[in-house]
Amino acid sequence: MKIDFSGQVAVVTGAGGGIGRAVALALSAVGAKVLLVDLAEAAGQQTQALVKEQGGDALFVQADVSQEAQVQAYVAAALQAWGRIDVFMNNAAWQGEIHAIVDYPVEMFDKVMNINVRGVFLGLKHVLPVMTAQGKGAVVNTASLGSFLATRKLGPYTASKHAVMGLTKTAALEVARKGIRVNAVCPGPVDTEMLRDIEASQAPGSAEHLRAQRTASIPDGRYADPAEVANLMVYLASDLSSHITGQGIQINGGSHY
Ligand SMILES: NC(=O)c1ccc[n+]([C@@H]2O[C@H](COP(=O)([O-])OP(=O)(O)OC[C@H]3O[C@@H](n4cnc5c(N)ncnc54)[C@H](O)[C@@H]3O)[C@@H](O)[C@H]2O)c1
Repeated sequence: MKIDFSGQVAVVTGAGGGIGRAVALALSAVGAKVLLVDLAEAAGQQTQALVKEQGGDALFVQADVSQEAQVQAYVAAALQAWGRIDVFMNNAAWQGEIHAIVDYPVEMFDKVMNINVRGVFLGLKHVLPVMTAQGKGAVVNTASLGSFLATRKLGPYTASKHAVMGLTKTAALEVARKGIRVNAVCPGPVDTEMLRDIEASQAPGSAEHLRAQRTASIPDGRYADPAEVANLMVYLASDLSSHITGQGIQINGGSHY
């Protein structure tokens, strides 16, 4: 079987970021039209330009995934442009600040949960009816190693990624007989801006040392490249994974959790 998304429409949130951009480019390379969503306008537009440079069809919509009206607007934009949504990469997230729970500002906790959980929930809430009407669709939520393991001072992020698995499993059950699959990818460290920000906050002035220690603890000795995570996401969106649903698939260079 060949991976071919010709004629299909994909929506990617967090499309200006490392993994979102990689999966937008990967989906476009196998024929999908891509609706790119991000709060960061310049980064989203850069992804749009990169997709077009490689000959693909892309449309960027600036939206905050935690705001229902803006989620409805990006779904409407995809339908207006191309009439359907076959693939949904529900990927945008924010790591939050780095504090122990007792020191964590409540409004920051709310912000992390709003983007990472409410945003994923709203995406499912408004994309699944489109897929249900089509009788076809595949959703890939971006969860994390943090869906299984805790990291000191990343409590809200960890809680949010556990919640993404809860939403993934529930949504999968609810649409399993409707031609729609819902899975999650659970990456270990991936070489993106988010991870660099986390390292800089965890080890001010010695982020490189922390990075070296962390990569040494990974069996294959390195962080994932965003394109490797994108490959798994494309697989989970494709018919090659037609009997896989409700799963969180780890991609982590051989670690066991
Ligand atoms: N980098 C890692 O090590 C790693 C590991 C496991 C999981 N993840 C997950 O992968 C996904 C992508 O992260 P990344 O590593 O590419 O990070 P990134 O910071 O490069 O990209 C995240 C993107 O999400 C966007 N975003 C943030 N808040 C938003 C909002 N409210 N509305 C719309 N867009 C918003 C940002 O502007 C950014 O472009 C996230 O869900 C993250 O939690 C990352």
